[in-house]
Amino acid sequence: MSYDINNYSMDQALTDDRHHVWHHLTQHKMLETQDPLMFIEGKGMRVMDTKGKEYLDAVAGGVWTVNIGYGRESMANAVRDQLLKINFFANSVGSLPGAMFAQKLIEKMPGMSRVYYSNSGSEANEKAYKIIRQIAYKKYGGKKHKILFRDRDYHGTTITALSSTGQLQRKGQYGPFTPGFIEFPHCSAYHSANGADADFGVQAAQAIEETILREGPDSVGGVVIEPITAGGGVIVPPEGYMQEVRRICDKYDVLLHIDEVVCGLGRTGKWFGYQHFGIVPDIVTMAKGVASGYAAISCTVTTEAVFNDFKDDANDPMGYFRDISTFGGCTAGPAAALENMRIIEEENLLHNATVMGEYLNQQLHNLAAKHEIVGDVRGKGLFQGMELVKDRNTREPVAESVAAAVVAHCMSQGVIIGRTNRSFERHNNTLCLSPALIASSNEIDEIVSAIDHALASVS
Ligand SMILES: Cc1ncc(COP(=O)(O)O)c(C=O)c1O
Repeated sequence: MSYDINNYSMDQALTDDRHHVWHHLTQHKMLETQDPLMFIEGKGMRVMDTKGKEYLDAVAGGVWTVNIGYGRESMANAVRDQLLKINFFANSVGSLPGAMFAQKLIEKMPGMSRVYYSNSGSEANEKAYKIIRQIAYKKYGGKKHKILFRDRDYHGTTITALSSTGQLQRKGQYGPFTPGFIEFPHCSAYHSANGADADFGVQAAQAIEETILREGPDSVGGVVIEPITAGGGVIVPPEGYMQEVRRICDKYDVLLHIDEVVCGLGRTGKWFGYQHFGIVPDIVTMAKGVASGYAAISCTVTTEAVFNDFKDDANDPMGYFRDISTFGGCTAGPAAALENMRIIEEENLLHNATVMGEYLNQQLHNLAAKHEIVGDVRGKGLFQGMELVKDRNTREPVAESVAAAVVAHCMSQGVIIGRTNRSFERHNNTLCLSPALIASSNEIDEIVSAIDHALASVS
């Protein structure tokens, strides 16, 4: 029996996959009669499948992750060198890359102070919820334990992360959910009757204040939001919204947790999405773009004030953060994250995300002028969405199958784009674009041209 991956035939790989791998988000019936798609190489923004066909990846690994692009030798070297020094020890002790990356990260996040390592976005969010719950216990006798989340936002796959997710269809059949998580309305101007009002941002944020008052301010300890809703339809908050959210959280002594799992590290043209709005959160979580998928790493970052709540009484045997993540001690994560950050700085990728993001947004608006089916184009940096509608006046969404047909048509042209996926009964109608931050105007033209043809095919 051979373990030599270099002498593994494509046919055998496809057979083994069909017989033994359970894919994410996949109905497997079709794989009884057709081969699974399998990518075997990636370079820059392109990936290649088992048949040698090349694709331009406009969603950075399918789920907005590979921000610096594929095939980076320096990333492989950084991880390899670190693994040979020491690959792991539980993170109750320190590591060289863990210390250095924490310092570099905090340098990019004025007002923040402490970094807690784990492995996935869901897990980072779970840590944040545990922090909020334990503070409620320590300071408020357990009363201030409720956490508010927003309609349309996604916070992860584990039962509690899903409990705090505002996507009814995605949650379907996985309940009952963790108690103490309360939903409030989204802030999408495009989907709101008052969306055109000049003060819509402030109005939308007031839904949070109303929810806090309804639940009782002495029972609410945290609010979690995405800075830009990602899988819920690429929704950029309206002007004034985030500042109002911060004001409301301060007023009711509620911790503000921003989930930067998608926007984190450069996607929107700043290191973090919240930095567009001039606020400082209490807790920030991040995962995907931290090491661009070259190693698994997530971070839960807090202010020093939050951290201090866990070390105020050294004699209390229950008073510190009694949490562990085994693989939060893998040194490959912070080693990869350091090199990822160095690449973003050296190649000026925040700037590129801003400039190319504006170009992509403009090109998508040009498509909107041409195709009646496009209801809205929105986004920040290299994170853009295009909502498809049956009727521009009523904004009635197209069926999910129409958005799926556009994605499939792009795929047949060798361009991978994303879409909202089985998240809502009616609103799975937004195309999602998040190319790597290295994207050039030529690659953006290629993406836009594929969408142009695909939209023509469904109109
Ligand atoms: C905003 C947001 N938060 C959290 C998560 C969960 O991250 P993970 O899949 O790494 O657990 C995701 C994943 O898509 C996400 O988009």
